[in-house]
Amino acid sequence: MVFVTGAVPGDRVRARVTKRKRAYAEARALELVEPSAERVAPRAPHPGAPWQVLPYERQFAEKEHLVRDALVRIGGFADPPVEPILAAQDPWRYRNKVEYSFGTDERGGLVLGFHRPGRWNEIDDVSEDVLASERVDALRERVKAWCRAEGLSAYDRREGAGFLRNLVVREGRRTGELQARLVTSPGDFRASDFAAELDGADGVLWTRAAGVAETTRDGETELLAGSDFLDEEIRVFGAALRLRVSPEAFFQVHTEQAERLYALAAELAGLRGTERVFDLYSGIGTIALCLALRAREVVGIESVEPAVADAIENARSNEIDNARFFAGDVRTALRPLVEEAGRPDVLVVDPPRAGLSQKIVRRVLETGAPRIVYVSCNPTTLAPNARQMTDAGYRLSAVRPVDMFPQTPHIECVALLERDSP
Ligand SMILES: C[S@@+](CC[C@H](N)C(=O)[O-])C[C@H]1O[C@@H](n2cnc3c(N)ncnc32)[C@H](O)[C@@H]1O
Repeated sequence: MVFVTGAVPGDRVRARVTKRKRAYAEARALELVEPSAERVAPRAPHPGAPWQVLPYERQFAEKEHLVRDALVRIGGFADPPVEPILAAQDPWRYRNKVEYSFGTDERGGLVLGFHRPGRWNEIDDVSEDVLASERVDALRERVKAWCRAEGLSAYDRREGAGFLRNLVVREGRRTGELQARLVTSPGDFRASDFAAELDGADGVLWTRAAGVAETTRDGETELLAGSDFLDEEIRVFGAALRLRVSPEAFFQVHTEQAERLYALAAELAGLRGTERVFDLYSGIGTIALCLALRAREVVGIESVEPAVADAIENARSNEIDNARFFAGDVRTALRPLVEEAGRPDVLVVDPPRAGLSQKIVRRVLETGAPRIVYVSCNPTTLAPNARQMTDAGYRLSAVRPVDMFPQTPHIECVALLERDSP
């Protein structure tokens, strides 16, 4: 199994292997020998949407196939119970968060867009982002025009000089809220005029970051206008949860598909109202709060403190009093949590792309939870984790892919692992 960047399923390419693992490899396409016969014209250039050259039906069929393939080849499951993928109702302009980078073109002009694939210091300007809404497009163009008129320079990581680094835009798809966060190097600019220029936005923030690393998570953030938090709404089981999201916190990028993902996680959890549920990697409390509507109690663990504060506030503002949240590292917090709260009936994990380490899987197994609901954004790490769990006596009973990232090769899925109660 080889994952090739710079190519889409059906292409014949010459490629160089960049990473070799025991069960799969990664490669970069060098030459397109024969393009897939199914290729269609892209809507607009977008390095973050490499699969837009495939018809949407072909994209999600391929993702379903990739999940099955990962479980067979990497996880060693002979016939994994992969159910049909939940395709997106709207596969374009769906993202509720976008990060743009500032750069300089050949003539020295300021650009605002995306990294050219494989080039860490070259930015291609974007005037239409087919994954974000038209409102986000308009906001980005206003920021670009204002920064050009001010004569501000882009930060150059090679030189370690220049001011503007990133523009992070978040949009509440259900609430209509819009938030702009400008990330710069240390220095000054006419910040209050900038905020006044974006007077339609619900929040305007400014982060000053030192160091050369390309990350929008570091640095000091100052509120220039409006609110620090973005509000979004999640609709599940006929209820609408209004959730606050801090700038530092993770939030699923496709709100409508996230609602379907959480409803699915709740369904697989098989709740009757009597259960104690642990939600590991709980973020701002999204899954925990959805499950709390149907369980006896839910406890969440999350390492990013502002996200934990959001989760606690989200429980309070939605009048959910059977969900508690703790700041901590899952690796060390799980044992003490079992001692304090008791064994869980259902354990939900939603880790980052790297999945769970073997040690964390052992900690999860120690809890003895009869049901584990595994929300994964990477089937190549879900597969070995699920194998370790089944080797310890669990059954992989269901896997359901959810297309959270149309026009990209990324895949989300939810899996259920069960064992008989001792
Ligand atoms: C994929 S997100 C899931 C968040 C949440 N379940 C949701 O759907 O919005 C993973 C979360 O795990 C958190 N995280 C990463 N490593 C962690 C660790 N070692 N212990 C606890 N939380 C961690 C991240 O900050 C992030 O909020």
